[in-house]
Amino acid sequence: MTATTMLVNSSHPLPLGWEPDDLVNLWDIRPHHCLLRSRSLQLCACAAKAANALFGQAEREGIKDFILASAYRDGDYQAKLFEDSPNGYVAYPGCSEHQTGLAMDVAQFRRGMNLDDERKAWLAENCWEHGFVIRYPQGRQGVTGIPYEPWHLRYVGRDVAGEMRQRGWVLEEWREAHREGR
Ligand code: DAL
Ligand code: ZN
Repeated sequence: MTATTMLVNSSHPLPLGWEPDDLVNLWDIRPHHCLLRSRSLQLCACAAKAANALFGQAEREGIKDFILASAYRDGDYQAKLFEDSPNGYVAYPGCSEHQTGLAMDVAQFRRGMNLDDERKAWLAENCWEHGFVIRYPQGRQGVTGIPYEPWHLRYVGRDVAGEMRQRGWVLEEWREAHREGR
């Protein structure tokens, strides 16, 4: 099982052939509580269950139109996206935590990744209770190396997400405080 606090960034790359061993196809989790961009989206089992619970809460609270746009990406697919991306938002192959199966991108119907303020705020406020964090918060590029991405949620588990939220830490800082190797 993939360690939920695993760090992947430009200084902690994965081998391109590395893959998680407990991927679940989100289409197979019923009922799903948000739109899925394709039938082949996969996440690690813990993240898949937590994502569906998060979107279930959104549905109950009337926050509509979330679309799960991207989840697990293997090293080769990340390489293709990287080649095709002119804007620097796609991580170098091996350096994307989408390869861990613990990260997902949440889009909005008719707006794509340009989430409106209500949805950005709702995700930031509620995701921790389901074990997710906004992995690349505003103003933290100096630590994460990645510009603000309100749509990129990373599963770390509820206790870690709660502690990160309380302390205002990003994952690099949580790991430093807990002295975790990979
Ligand atoms: N957009 C994020 C950084 C990724 O490609 O993993
Ligand atoms: Zn992402």
